[in-house]
Amino acid sequence: MRSEYCGALNTTFIDQTVTLCGWVDRRRDHGGVIFIDLRDRDGIVQVVFDPDGQENFALADKVRSEYVLKVTGKVRARDAATVNKNMATGEIEVYGTELEILSVAETPPFPLNEHSNVGEDVRLKFRYLDLRRQEMQHNLRFRSKVTNAIRNYLDDNEFLDIETPILTRATPEGARDYLVPSRTHEGQFFALPQSPQIFKQLLMVSGFDRYYQIAKCFRDEDLRADRQPEFTQIDIETSFMSDEQIMSVTEGMITHIFKTMKGVDLGGFPRMPYSEAIAKYGSDKPDLRIPLELVDVKDLMTEVDFKVFSGPANDPKGRVAALKIAGGSEKLSRKKIDNYTKFVSIYGARGLAYIKVNDKADLENGLQSPIVKNLSLDVRKEVLERVGAENGDIIFFGADKANIVSEALGALRCKIGEDLDLYTCEWAPLWVVDFPMFEEIEGGWTSIHHPFTSPSCSAEELVANPGEALSVAYDMVLNGTELGGGSIRIHDQSMQQSVFKVLGIGEEEQREKFGFLLDALQYGAPPHGGLAFGLDRLIMLMTDSASIRDVIAFPKTQTAACVMTDAPGDVDRKQLRELNIKLVEKKPASE
Ligand code: AMO
Ligand code: AMP
Repeated sequence: MRSEYCGALNTTFIDQTVTLCGWVDRRRDHGGVIFIDLRDRDGIVQVVFDPDGQENFALADKVRSEYVLKVTGKVRARDAATVNKNMATGEIEVYGTELEILSVAETPPFPLNEHSNVGEDVRLKFRYLDLRRQEMQHNLRFRSKVTNAIRNYLDDNEFLDIETPILTRATPEGARDYLVPSRTHEGQFFALPQSPQIFKQLLMVSGFDRYYQIAKCFRDEDLRADRQPEFTQIDIETSFMSDEQIMSVTEGMITHIFKTMKGVDLGGFPRMPYSEAIAKYGSDKPDLRIPLELVDVKDLMTEVDFKVFSGPANDPKGRVAALKIAGGSEKLSRKKIDNYTKFVSIYGARGLAYIKVNDKADLENGLQSPIVKNLSLDVRKEVLERVGAENGDIIFFGADKANIVSEALGALRCKIGEDLDLYTCEWAPLWVVDFPMFEEIEGGWTSIHHPFTSPSCSAEELVANPGEALSVAYDMVLNGTELGGGSIRIHDQSMQQSVFKVLGIGEEEQREKFGFLLDALQYGAPPHGGLAFGLDRLIMLMTDSASIRDVIAFPKTQTAACVMTDAPGDVDRKQLRELNIKLVEKKPASE
């Protein structure tokens, strides 16, 4: 139908006759001349109808916002006075000679041609309209170009795109499974994949050597701004490559995408051991744009006459750390400090002690603080020296179980970095490496990555001291977001069984859940490893979107529902009978 996209028109088209198809973004009647801003996925162009074209003019008078039109007309230059510099096509307009209304439209439930502050629930209910907005058009187009660049890069590097099943068994990635009842196997369920992890490992056993897939993954977990129950991974697996080689080829991919899509040179990605990330930044995904660091002061606090500090200082699992904000004394009012105290309580911190350094030479009276009276002059001096305090600085303290202090001060570091706009650069990528294999939960161990991750120690050492074992795992972090993660896998059956043993998965359960994998490892499994990136998160960062939902065409809400299709929904009794499912009555809301 069309000869050109609206947004593609410019002065090179002057005097040409073009046919456009699109939606009415805006219609204005200017004293007998009708202006229609016509919009398609490429942009907007102004079309003019005047009373000379009688029939068309009458029709143009009838059109309303969001009508779908086919317009034929001549491109002409605008008068200097009417050139619109804010519009990509603002130097020209189309003088309409033919007009056809292809579709009429009700008034949309919210305006599409401006930044309206309509609630997200309304946007999601009418998502097909929300997606007409330029921001969403841009984001999804950008996403498409990125996936294309990824495919090209991986194809150039000999990776094969292989699909893996959606109806499968549980794939342990630490979330709850979405289950699908089987009709043909009474009382049994498929699980939707939390990731293609096991299948991609099996593809390595099959000899495919370099695999990738842009794969849908499903995780029933608590949602946050950068999490969806259904999301997309750029999933990669390779054989006969070291962790360094895998990091190099995938870093190359991300670097390539930033270069081609944004003209940004990310530079080299530094490597940081997990222990350093936690010590300095309180997080395994440090935002290195912010030049603030945590400093441990535990050893200085063992003797102080202040239980809040001495308790954790004498607890092997405790941590006492300081966070200095240069020049923060003036910038952070009492009210702000109170707000930060509330903020850290989200992470379980029971308080937020601080010292304002008014005069560091006067240890007696130069420090303004609710806790300084509890610290001897020597301790005061050593703290100031260790954090490198200057007059005008403020020092915050966290004292508690190590994970609480790290999380609380780590989050505070980012919050203050944002509030005071301390960013030193736009993009700060890095690899976090040398993760522990396990973390302790309720007297047992759980995998930090997944149970197929290779330890960097022997099976004997692993079993003897699980808490000390490190893994050959690596996460790519960008601006404080975990973009992707992976590892070298276990390709030896007995090592795999040792890991299961530490995780408390007995032999029977191993056979039942992972028998096929353990079998496969006996038939010539190559050394292999890989990684997966979160595509949605990558696009979110690259488009500077506040929510992961803004880069997904049809996302779920915070409660993992789709308000447009009303999913999840009830199913009729017949369907349930076929599935041999009987619902217990819904609990009343109060329970
Ligand atoms: P992991 O669980 O770290 O690793 O997931 C890889 C990446 O996927 C993204 N991601 C998510 N994005 C949106 N919503 C979610 N709910 C969500 N969960 C994860 C993150 C994350 O870094 N099989 C392994 C990878 C491997 O070892 O090769 C895995 O799935 O960006
Ligand atoms: P309190 O003795 O509880 O009144 O606390 C004195 C100061 O120490 C207050 O500024 C609290 O915010 C702070 N504080 C209390 N508990 C902690 C903690 N676990 N970590 C850091 N500061 C704390």
